[in-house]
Amino acid sequence: MKKLSILLACLTATLASAPAQTGFSAKDIPAIVKKMTVEEKAAFVVGIKFELPQYEGKYLRGTGGVTYPMERFGVPSIVMMDGPVGLRLYDYETTCFPSGILTAASWDRDVAYTIGTALGEESLDMGNDVLLGPGMNIHRNPLNGRNFEYFSEDPVLSGLLAAAYINGVQSKGVGTSAKHFAANNQETNRLDNDSRLDTRALREIYTKAFELCLRESEPWTVMASYNYLNGTYTQESRDLLSKILRKDFGFKGLVVTDWTGKRNTPKQLNAGSDLLMGGSPDQTEHILQSLKDGSLKMSDLDRAVTKMLELVVKCPSNNGNVRTLKPDLEKHAKLCRERASEGMVLLKNDGVFPAKPARAALYGVYSYAMIQGGNGAGWVNSPYVVSLAEGLENAGIKVDSKLRSLYEAYADFKMKDLKTNHVVNVHVGDPQIPELDLSESLIEASEPDSDIAIITIGRISGEGRDRIHNSEFLIQKEEIKLIKDVCEAYHSAGKKVAVVLNICGPVETASWKKYPDAILCAWLPGEEAGNSVADVITGKVNPSGRLPMTFPMNYIDAKGAENFPYNFVSDRANESVVHPERRGLPLKDLAYTDYIEGIYVGYRYFCTEGKAVSYPFGYGLSYTSFEYSEPVVSIVGDKLTASVKVTNTGSLAGKEAVGLYIKAPLGSFKDKPSRELKEFGKTGLLQPGESQTISFTVPVRQLASFNSEKSRWETAKGGYTAYFGANCEKAEAEASFTLTSARNYPVSRACEPAVR
Ligand code: BGC
Repeated sequence: MKKLSILLACLTATLASAPAQTGFSAKDIPAIVKKMTVEEKAAFVVGIKFELPQYEGKYLRGTGGVTYPMERFGVPSIVMMDGPVGLRLYDYETTCFPSGILTAASWDRDVAYTIGTALGEESLDMGNDVLLGPGMNIHRNPLNGRNFEYFSEDPVLSGLLAAAYINGVQSKGVGTSAKHFAANNQETNRLDNDSRLDTRALREIYTKAFELCLRESEPWTVMASYNYLNGTYTQESRDLLSKILRKDFGFKGLVVTDWTGKRNTPKQLNAGSDLLMGGSPDQTEHILQSLKDGSLKMSDLDRAVTKMLELVVKCPSNNGNVRTLKPDLEKHAKLCRERASEGMVLLKNDGVFPAKPARAALYGVYSYAMIQGGNGAGWVNSPYVVSLAEGLENAGIKVDSKLRSLYEAYADFKMKDLKTNHVVNVHVGDPQIPELDLSESLIEASEPDSDIAIITIGRISGEGRDRIHNSEFLIQKEEIKLIKDVCEAYHSAGKKVAVVLNICGPVETASWKKYPDAILCAWLPGEEAGNSVADVITGKVNPSGRLPMTFPMNYIDAKGAENFPYNFVSDRANESVVHPERRGLPLKDLAYTDYIEGIYVGYRYFCTEGKAVSYPFGYGLSYTSFEYSEPVVSIVGDKLTASVKVTNTGSLAGKEAVGLYIKAPLGSFKDKPSRELKEFGKTGLLQPGESQTISFTVPVRQLASFNSEKSRWETAKGGYTAYFGANCEKAEAEASFTLTSARNYPVSRACEPAVR
């Protein structure tokens, strides 16, 4: 193996001295594969290690990885950087864009696309070739610590928004990595948890988002997740990577493994993983040994090498990109502010907003320390975060200065204290600041100086740890007390109270939503947070966001809620890693998680069971009203076309998100959800009285359910209903149609007609 270490040292030296800029072209690929030595091939499909390149002699600190250059063929090293809402670099500032969860709440492909283009531009500036995003796992459970990076509980919303995002990034000539494939739905014991689920759920929910994403985009890479899927690591699953992803969904790009070096190397390559990241020399050695002992075929290695070359040839590093290290932060801040307001969801509004009061009293520490984004791979070192206090002041609203000094001092002290004196349970990023216990007399004393009170409730989460039900999903006793005391003081003076939710995922709302007059869900909106919220509050932007997941009455109401580590506090200060003594033990929800709910995730369960929720999937208010009319549906060949007219019947201009849900007959199935989202869109800004017809096209194959025994999609014969409107509980218009005969489709997407 001496020869190998010399080779690796040479390749690394080439990289450190001068990244190869010579470039090669696609037509050279077969010849390069032929000429590469077996050692070169084995090195080429393994990343160097978990680190970014050297710029000006210094390692770029951040997360991602680089690949080996093959200088003698003009093949440069390429760089892959996190993450989905901004480049995660510790020594350089980049824009923190709104989290995936907010993008999903916009129900607008254009929001995802434009954020993608900006991320593509920043990638070019920072010398990145492949952005490690979008994160597109399904919100199986509201407590997954990474839900803020992901889009939705629904695969259609997730998959189609992911496609728009990918198209945006890649329009700049930068690659993406659709991640994490598949069924990677918890952070607790994330490296080794076994997701156990049935084939129907796998096809209809957990891989559906990827299938749809691949219908409308061509991500350069897909990232295979860490977890096991029914007893096999996804990175070692031929069925998942070669059969489902490549054969059935038609994926043509490269499969990169999530950043671990501890799987079985030949099995990974044999299954269809092409690039092993972060990468270690052991893996390269293992490849060489496996070729010798026959556990790896040369053809599998050649496939991976070819996929690598096909990726590298497209990359900015191969195409003369010159990094500036100076992203256009000003331009992107404007975009960030504007796009974030498109995904904020107005949950309650009893005559409060839009409002431009002269004076506002802000309560809650997060009014002064707004959370831009979450922790871990989704964390971004942005230049600043605009607080709500700053945002309102910028909008000309005077913020109570006594409260401001008190809270700002507390936020500052507490953040430093948590970071220095306590074990901070984050992967990189910020800890959760506990709420300040304000006395009633202080609240009463501040009331006369303000026209309105706004309370911000914050929740942060991140990679490596799931949220805890008792301390994070539930509103804490100091928070409830604050809401009640502020409401009492302001209501008795005839003034209004609003709550802003600056949250990474749903929180319990049912028990306290009756107290305030308005509730605005602002999610984790990126660095312009306070300005974006102020734009919605003052009516500069009429809210058009709709919930991309259900807010249940109680966490435990969801089917499957108990099959999740929802109150798990690990032995190692809340990290995902299970204590070595417990590793390998067959512990429920740690070693394995049974997806007992099957396809009944989120609204598919609540709507079908008719079970009450606090706010349903698709819920959200506007400052104007809309009327739906002229619903039309028809089947033409293998396509369903549907349209509906939306009219602004109120007195303010606004946008309306429209969902198309379908209720299908049972056919050969014992059960089906009472309705399922099949498409969505958003109107333009409609002036009062103005109308727009929204049209959808859906392949009939997408109306089908998956018959696991026959391994095929079945669209039943009979009467269907199409419901229009974003809120899954409230159809604004409906129309019916009939399929006169059942239609069965193979697993391959190839038979599906193009829809756009
Ligand atoms: C995360 C990925 C990330 C990768 C590289 C992993 O731990 O799961 O989402 O892209 O690290 O930083």
